[in-house]
Amino acid sequence: MSARTHDPAAQDWTDQDWLDDPWTDSGESRRRGRKKPVGRRQLAQLTADEDSEQDDVIRRLKDLGHITEVVAELKSGKEATAYVARGPRGSVLVKLYRDLQTRSFKDDRVYRAGQVILDVRAAKAMHNRTRKGLEMLQQDWVLSEYAHLWTLWTAGLNVPEPLAGPHPTAYADTIPAVLMRLIGTEDHVAPRLSDAHLTPEQARSAWDQSLTGMADLLRLGYAHGDYSTYNLLWQEDTVTIIDFPQLSTRQNPHFRDLLARDAQSLATSFRKHGIHADGQSVLRDVQRRALGPAPEPRLLLP
Ligand SMILES: Nc1ncnc2c1ncn2[C@@H]1O[C@H](COP(=O)(O)OP(=O)(O)OP(=O)(O)O)[C@@H](O)[C@H]1O
Ligand SMILES: [Mg+2]
Repeated sequence: MSARTHDPAAQDWTDQDWLDDPWTDSGESRRRGRKKPVGRRQLAQLTADEDSEQDDVIRRLKDLGHITEVVAELKSGKEATAYVARGPRGSVLVKLYRDLQTRSFKDDRVYRAGQVILDVRAAKAMHNRTRKGLEMLQQDWVLSEYAHLWTLWTAGLNVPEPLAGPHPTAYADTIPAVLMRLIGTEDHVAPRLSDAHLTPEQARSAWDQSLTGMADLLRLGYAHGDYSTYNLLWQEDTVTIIDFPQLSTRQNPHFRDLLARDAQSLATSFRKHGIHADGQSVLRDVQRRALGPAPEPRLLLP
């Protein structure tokens, strides 16, 4: 069955889109000898000592000096697999994106609305989701996560420190992987708030920090787009926000809806920790907090 049949949001695609759609590819790409999409990479392949067997992305990350070895696979999500690795500055979280063709398709158009692409040909290819366009969308998605991490980390928010960059030419070299500091330790990786067991007092603190985190994003003009306990880590009584490719700005015509949805998701996902709030009151609280003082910015070392 083609993934397209699961994608109701794609019904407004044009006939040309259908022709260029990789999910309906009838084998034409194979006949033209296109590269097979790389799906979830096997840990054995990632940790292999034999140079020839090593995954090319991991080899590149090692060659660039970002990591020395991959230690474990942490979690496979909708669009990427997270690995724990070691690097020159400590433990690294490697978020390795799958090729767009093999990712469980997430319609990102709602997040991209209002985004200006200056290169008209690129914009057209991306809009039509041609093969080249999909490649560009994939790259843009991964680069966006880095760019957002750098912006938020330097602004002093509780997000993982990005470990490649800050210049885009430096972090572009690690695509399709995003490298960031591991929250927790190799032996005790920070759980997501959705999995954490909290005392009532910890739950209240986590809730308060999560509202402040959403307000910190809003003060900078962002809606997370997937804000819930599934994308909040809990380590030493501190909340860290993760997962940023879909961050949206006020230029996005859906900005208010995305913000309201985040407020609702946060409220809903906190029920298991005994916190009962409704989306509207969360939104009001977050908007009020966003008028308050910002976190202390972090200075980039030269
Ligand atoms: N810096 C980090 N330190 C520790 N764990 C992390 C870090 N970043 C991500 N993780 C873990 O990896 C998982 C996947 O990361 P992320 O949410 O960014 O990717 P995703 O593909 O969007 O996953 P999902 O589909 O589950 O949302 C997270 O749920 C979390 O458990
Ligand atoms: Mg996630």
